[in-house]
Amino acid sequence: MSRLPIIAGNWKMNNTIKETKALLKELIPLVKDAKAEVAVCVPYTSIAAAGRLIKGTNIKLGAENVHWSDKGAFTGEISADMLKELKVEYVIVGHSERRQYFGETDETVNKRAKAALGRKLKPIICVGELLSERESGQTDNVVIRQTKGAFEGIDKADLADIVIAYEPVWAIGTGKTATADDADKTISVIRNTIGEIYGKAAASTIRIQYGGSMNAKNVAELMSKPNIDGGLIGGASLKAEDFKNVVLGAK
Ligand code: PGA
Repeated sequence: MSRLPIIAGNWKMNNTIKETKALLKELIPLVKDAKAEVAVCVPYTSIAAAGRLIKGTNIKLGAENVHWSDKGAFTGEISADMLKELKVEYVIVGHSERRQYFGETDETVNKRAKAALGRKLKPIICVGELLSERESGQTDNVVIRQTKGAFEGIDKADLADIVIAYEPVWAIGTGKTATADDADKTISVIRNTIGEIYGKAAASTIRIQYGGSMNAKNVAELMSKPNIDGGLIGGASLKAEDFKNVVLGAK
């Protein structure tokens, strides 16, 4: 089963509109012949400008979160309809920074993923263990729990629109990467969990990225592993040249 790799930038809280325009203008020609699918998940304030710039290119537009309600009294939140109106295609849900700093739980991740799917947005669902959990041998249990929680009540028919990102929390923004073998092994645990819920065929088609200090130097080795279908890229997505090297390294 061949799965099209997807390299998605996660800009986090970086880039003003002005910086967004400069970065994308530089990036567009650099990745135009990419073999992998390419996306940039940008701050809300940059979505409109990014969308205008990448229209007609091979770069897909993404957001970094979405609320589960259609509308209402949720100060500071953004709905799936609002993202859809700006032609957003992908949206990150359950990033570990949301889980760590903003009280995101398996349940709210699930609600956000469902809201995204309900409006034909494609969620990039993040799972991953803390350093303490890895050190105490809990990695598999954690990603199994997070995966089951995130997919609760999601239809099999929606799986084609979902990407999972395995991001060991201790590897995010630290320059420490999981070894390619460890990443592949944990991703296979996630894949098997999808298989338990939806069957083997579904498990073999769903795309699962690795994220956590993925860069031009380690992309080829990570991507050589059978279970790894691309990357969610933080730091290395903030400079056009760096991101290009990751994208082109993901064959
Ligand atoms: P990083 O971030 O590449 O800077 O480690 C990845 C992520 O948080 O998605």
